[in-house]
Amino acid sequence: MNVTKALVVSDRYLRDARVLSPFEDQLASEEISAEIFCEVQPDPTDENVAGGLRALADCQAQALVAIGGGSVMDAAKMIGIAATNPQPLSDFQGYHKIENPGLPLIAIPTTAGTGSEVTQAAVITDTARQVKMMIFDRKLLPAISIIDYELSLSMPPHLTAHVGVDTLVHGIEAYVSRKASGMTDPLALSCIRLTSRHLPVVYTEPNHRTSREAMALAACQGGMAFTNSSVCLVHGMSRPLGAVFHLPHGLSNAVLLPTVTRFSVPGAPERYAAVAREMGCPESGALVPLLEEFNVRLGIPRLRDCIPKDRGEFESHLAKMAADALASGSPQNNPVVPSRDDIINLYREAW
Ligand SMILES: [Fe+2]
Repeated sequence: MNVTKALVVSDRYLRDARVLSPFEDQLASEEISAEIFCEVQPDPTDENVAGGLRALADCQAQALVAIGGGSVMDAAKMIGIAATNPQPLSDFQGYHKIENPGLPLIAIPTTAGTGSEVTQAAVITDTARQVKMMIFDRKLLPAISIIDYELSLSMPPHLTAHVGVDTLVHGIEAYVSRKASGMTDPLALSCIRLTSRHLPVVYTEPNHRTSREAMALAACQGGMAFTNSSVCLVHGMSRPLGAVFHLPHGLSNAVLLPTVTRFSVPGAPERYAAVAREMGCPESGALVPLLEEFNVRLGIPRLRDCIPKDRGEFESHLAKMAADALASGSPQNNPVVPSRDDIINLYREAW
């Protein structure tokens, strides 16, 4: 890449766990000077991107190396874009709004989840508006992705479960989406099959290398599938839930998945039957109970047990959350396209 200065984007946890050290040594041995920016927080914000941009300007880096989970990779994508596009980040919300290519990015995932290393998407929270902005543009695709499942061995069980269910939802939504195609179907089905077999294993046996490798593959396949098809209603409803109540992305997907699936099956019964078969159950009717049981096996609680607020406060946010869900565009790809009232009712059912 003809780069002599790079900015490594990561988080404090990975720095303190010394995950970054071998990469620093490698960059130094190639005579690439590297600064480290490790202030990315889970579910990254516009402020994290602004901080990264200042670090980038200070060290005059020509490329970015993201080492971390989806939050780190998404933040690095937008730091690279902000370096070459002066507009506020909110101008990029939606589809194909970025004018100039960003700095080249090498993405190295340390979780098996978002598949952000191969997607054209980034999700950044707009702190002023309390909105998780979905930004989708070809210019967000990393230049290079390096996927090494050994980096995921250190993930604690709850994180493994959350990011793993995110992977499962990517596979399912890419497959049932109105934008699914013959190019994305095989990736989506493989993602679903691998996740249903291997996620429960890595949740209980974190050092199970074969299953960790399978989950790294599933995450990448899920990312490739949904970035060329789309996500649907689970993601559409999950982002507002995360933005308002600060639930991790995978967890907010997981608590919605059974309810949203029950609502969506009538729009694509054959597609959902195929999902059920990949997960090892012969009839599509059994899919929703299977997804509920899958959550229980992974220690994922009910929505009401994830939010330290009462039902009244939850209700007071539903109208905005439903409007933000629809505005993201994702619900419109769902097999059954919901109204605003449908979405409000689904939030209530999931509670
Ligand atoms: Fe996701």
